[in-house]
Amino acid sequence: MSTTVDEMSRRTGAMSSAELSGERESRATVGDVTVANPRMVCRDVDVWYGAKQAIKGVSLDIGKNEVVSMIGPSGCGKSTFLRCLNRMNDTIDGCRVTGSIQLDGQDIYDKGLDPVPLRAQVGMVFQKPNPFPKSIYENVAYGARIHGLTNNKAELDELVSASLQKAGLWNEVKDRLDQPGTGLSGGQQQRLCIARTIAVSPEVILMDEPCSALDPIATAIIEELIDELRANYSIAIVTHSMQQAARVSQRTAYFHLGDLIEVGETNQIFTNPKHRLTEDYITGRFG
Ligand SMILES: Nc1ncnc2c1ncn2[C@@H]1O[C@H](COP(=O)(O)OP(=O)(O)OP(=O)(O)O)[C@@H](O)[C@H]1O
Ligand SMILES: [Mg+2]
Repeated sequence: MSTTVDEMSRRTGAMSSAELSGERESRATVGDVTVANPRMVCRDVDVWYGAKQAIKGVSLDIGKNEVVSMIGPSGCGKSTFLRCLNRMNDTIDGCRVTGSIQLDGQDIYDKGLDPVPLRAQVGMVFQKPNPFPKSIYENVAYGARIHGLTNNKAELDELVSASLQKAGLWNEVKDRLDQPGTGLSGGQQQRLCIARTIAVSPEVILMDEPCSALDPIATAIIEELIDELRANYSIAIVTHSMQQAARVSQRTAYFHLGDLIEVGETNQIFTNPKHRLTEDYITGRFG
């Protein structure tokens, strides 16, 4: 049975353009941006690339043991916002971040804060698997060495094997730890990158389209893994796949042209979006 846009809009209570314009001026996000148990708290975050504003007054909590997915059309600022959470934008010339972002109550943009350990606490997995040109073992051991996390070879061996197990890769690589990480399949490489991130004991894992270079089977394995990792970590994932957001996340945030338009429980966002722009996106009208 076909449903017209207006019927759907009435049913979902999505906002009209007129309501929207008032909404847009105040830049208010529809839905509750807070959670009861926040690990990260972002408030009024603006990001500029030179004179161009890419993120506009975004406030969002990331809770303990939850997966938050960030969706929205290309160029809406998902990656930019994700990179704010571990100060990866610091590495981009001309990029300026204002507002406040806290991890466990501490301002991560505090002048005295060293971004290097921060990036271990808030780790990142990228779109394209990017193992170092080193052995499988060394890929996972790398961060632990830099951060001085282990005291001897036995401890490091233990950390490498535990991290590979948590990333669901141990059984496939335990007999070839000395072989290059780049020799693994794409899906295995991505799990290797996840193991490398886990090895330095993060609290939060950021994933920017982690499955977009993977086939459906490798994607399913990573999605299962994300669900398991939630027991120990907070996860923020950017995805272009609404099915993936629905499968892996408990909350979903919809971005549009630098604004965080709506946030809510994933199920609500996909079945009963409150904002017209969210509805347009999830029903495939644009993006
Ligand atoms: N390094 C940069 N320098 C200048 N502008 C940038 C830079 N990175 C991103 N932008 C701009 O900021 C805006 C947001 O980009 P961003 O990459 O965050 O979007 P996105 O939602 O992740 O898009 P996609 O889904 O295509 O990955 C875009 O207009 C983009 O052109
Ligand atoms: Mg992006």
